[in-house]
Amino acid sequence: MSKKVFIKTFGCQMNEYDSNRIYDSIKNIGYFKTKDQSNADCYILNTCHIRDKAKEKVYHEIGRIKKLYEKKNKPIMIVAGCVAQAENQEMLNRESYIDLIIGPQSYHKINSLLETFEGNKIEETEFDSVSKFRYFDNIQNDSSKVSSFLTIQEGCDKFCHFCVVPYTRGPEYSRPFKKIIKEAEALIKNGSREITLLGQNVNAYSYNDCNKELRISNLISELEKYNELKRIRYTTSHPIDMTEDLIECYSTSKKLMPFVHLPVQSGSDKILKLMNRKHKIQDYLDIHDKLKKINIEIKFSSDFIVGYPGETEADFKDTLNLLEKIDFINSYSFIFSPRPGTRAASLELIDKEISKHRLEILQEKLFNNQIKFNKSMEGSLIEVLAENKLNQQDKFFGRNKFLTPVIFDGYNENIGKVVKIRIENSNQNTLFGKVEKNMKAA
Ligand code: SAM
Ligand code: SF4
Ligand code: F3S
Repeated sequence: MSKKVFIKTFGCQMNEYDSNRIYDSIKNIGYFKTKDQSNADCYILNTCHIRDKAKEKVYHEIGRIKKLYEKKNKPIMIVAGCVAQAENQEMLNRESYIDLIIGPQSYHKINSLLETFEGNKIEETEFDSVSKFRYFDNIQNDSSKVSSFLTIQEGCDKFCHFCVVPYTRGPEYSRPFKKIIKEAEALIKNGSREITLLGQNVNAYSYNDCNKELRISNLISELEKYNELKRIRYTTSHPIDMTEDLIECYSTSKKLMPFVHLPVQSGSDKILKLMNRKHKIQDYLDIHDKLKKINIEIKFSSDFIVGYPGETEADFKDTLNLLEKIDFINSYSFIFSPRPGTRAASLELIDKEISKHRLEILQEKLFNNQIKFNKSMEGSLIEVLAENKLNQQDKFFGRNKFLTPVIFDGYNENIGKVVKIRIENSNQNTLFGKVEKNMKAA
């Protein structure tokens, strides 16, 4: 008998990919997605632990779900993702509404757990990436989106002192090359025209095939060959793994988008060292310069942490100085959030008001860059991959080369194609325009 599942996803693109793959799996045992979150047989919260009171947010969310189901049958309540991995049994002890805790490397067990569920509380948090990917290799990735995610690598061995990822996703694991290509083929067949390769450290991808190391650069070259595929992206990359072969792809590949999300975290070498980042600002600038030399059009975005323990006014100025050297067109910036279990968790925090003030200054600069860059595109004709029609609107959604959302007047037949859009207006996050008449779509 068919049952309804509601999946709510928090966090990064990897969680989004995982939620889709969980669904690909459980629909084989009769669970079908519902948009009505108050009427599901199974409710899955796919959680993120990267910042702030992640754990408390999950309990709060469960409190809300409890209310929704007060007068109905309780759904099977599953907590998945990084909070599940980090908190595991403790969550079951604290909140009796939770039935199942399942960490990111145990999703291959979800069907059997659901099929045998009889009200008993279960926790699955082993790091078993090999079995997980083997299992999912045999299940079709059913994404029919124009732009799809494809996880190629999981986990992290770098242990930056502020970060929970090595503890929630486990050690670095790279999927077999051929399996990734097979999944990409299925996505392309299903209508994907853009694929974003995913990994917590996506450019650390390394797979040994008959004593030959295959890297993300090899994946890019292989994907390049598929005619229907128009665009290739990857995220999130680490500066230390920005190897020459990957940099070279920006001159050889016609499909790799000229937009690099390369988290720097801080502009101060002292802070980078305290963070255990293993790269220096000069390394970062060198990568920037090499890429710009290959293609001046390449744009950058980044992640910044402000108020890391030990950050002085001079260190913060170094971060601002970096913004004078690199025009980041779009970036994420947050105040340092101590994460339980990480090396930085016990360090003395700097004054909260100082951190807030620094964040405001940094964000003003970053947002101004973003607004300025978007404004510079007004009046120009740009290439946009049209992804979908907007709900209840006579408008379409797509993205330019630099991942900026574009809302435009167009036609259904534009979907899945790279179209020329005349930009008429913009704000901080979005460009607005019209399909240029008589322009042939690619
Ligand atoms: N692997 C990527 C790298 O090392 O460049 C980053 C991936 S991490 C999932 C995404 C971002 O979250 C980081 O770049 C960092 O800026 C932010 N982040 C991680 N831990 C944080 C913390 N404790 N406080 C604030 N931001 C944090
Ligand atoms: Fe976290 Fe990235 Fe550092 Fe790994 S490299 S610990 S994912 S910030
Ligand atoms: Fe969050 Fe886990 Fe992704 S902590 S950012 S969901 S890897």
